[in-house]
Amino acid sequence: MLDFIDLKQQQKLIRDKVDKRICKVLDHGQYIQGPEVKELEKELSLFSKSKFVLCCSSGTDALVLGLIALGLKPNEGVIVPSFTFASTAEAVCMLGGIPFFSDVKLDTYNICEESIIKSIDKANKIGINLKGIITVGLFGQPCDMDKIKEIADINNLWVFDDAAQSFGAKYKDKISGNLCEISATSFFPAKPLGCYGDGGALFTNNENFYKIAYSSHLHGMGNNKYEYDRIGMNGRIDTIQAAILLEKLKIFKSELLKREEIAKYYIKRFLKFNTNINVPKLTNNTNSSWAQFTIQLPLNCNREKFQSLMRQKNIPTAIYYPIPIHCQSPYQNFPISPDNLKNTIELSNRVVSLPMHPYLSQKNVDYISTTADEIITSLI
Ligand SMILES: Cc1ncc(COP(=O)(O)O)c(C=O)c1O
Repeated sequence: MLDFIDLKQQQKLIRDKVDKRICKVLDHGQYIQGPEVKELEKELSLFSKSKFVLCCSSGTDALVLGLIALGLKPNEGVIVPSFTFASTAEAVCMLGGIPFFSDVKLDTYNICEESIIKSIDKANKIGINLKGIITVGLFGQPCDMDKIKEIADINNLWVFDDAAQSFGAKYKDKISGNLCEISATSFFPAKPLGCYGDGGALFTNNENFYKIAYSSHLHGMGNNKYEYDRIGMNGRIDTIQAAILLEKLKIFKSELLKREEIAKYYIKRFLKFNTNINVPKLTNNTNSSWAQFTIQLPLNCNREKFQSLMRQKNIPTAIYYPIPIHCQSPYQNFPISPDNLKNTIELSNRVVSLPMHPYLSQKNVDYISTTADEIITSLI
């Protein structure tokens, strides 16, 4: 079976350096808040050009910490896409907020500006006190931030970017992680920049947001240990994970370029075929970190059969995401945009992600795309 995401090849390249980094942590013994954490924050700040970076325990916790910094209170509303991973909405709920689900665009998979506007109108009508919008650069491409910020400004809302999948991608020459007031990312192992466990980071140019998030991730610590300014949480990253990320970050730029090359090659291959597969589309002035390579099957193609036939040919596939968040039982009573999230429903039925990682060979892309084309042709 081919790998869906191959972390072994990357590890082989950097194993010696990672081993040395881990040994160094074992030698100094500062497993919590060791010097590698600050070093990583500094490197991430240089990489993203974001003034303040807080490394933390996961992408989900980065979202919660960001919402705490933004001052989200119980019963306040936040517009979120429904076509995303659970954390985007979950973080809002963890603070007692109300996720207001909006639709995404069929071509980019990212939140749709018209749907945001409709959600704002509906929120005003039904008396939900909206405070902000969480954007998600799903599968790697950042959202159209200028348009979203314009809507947010007019309506006095903040914008918080969930860049768990899009960290490192660009929007108008700015790096994802630095596209709005505050951004979060995840270092889950399968992410474009992943560690060997859980981890995440928060990015902002606002010192006050940083200070609140910093204190909150240390149980609300004040100026002295065991003195608290607020109710917080344990949101720390392990020093060993920070040490591993320092080595991974060194090759991150070159891996992003490799992902881009592979994605372009996939697209070129699929466009040659005649099978009505929708390949990912990039909008002007953006690139993608290609966390996933996600296609849309023709409407009349049975996705389960497609996956099973691909598996028989040793090609793994994945569905991100089969059930939109607003259709899942814990989230069913939250408000949704008046457009009823039609694109979200359609995508959840049609999308399928193919193997994608920086070490995927052209030969394997040829094999995957040819096989996918043959199977789809046989199924429609
Ligand atoms: C869009 C999105 N947001 C948030 C997260 C949460 O990250 P973590 O798993 O590090 O908590 C993920 C991870 O899968 C994600 O894909």
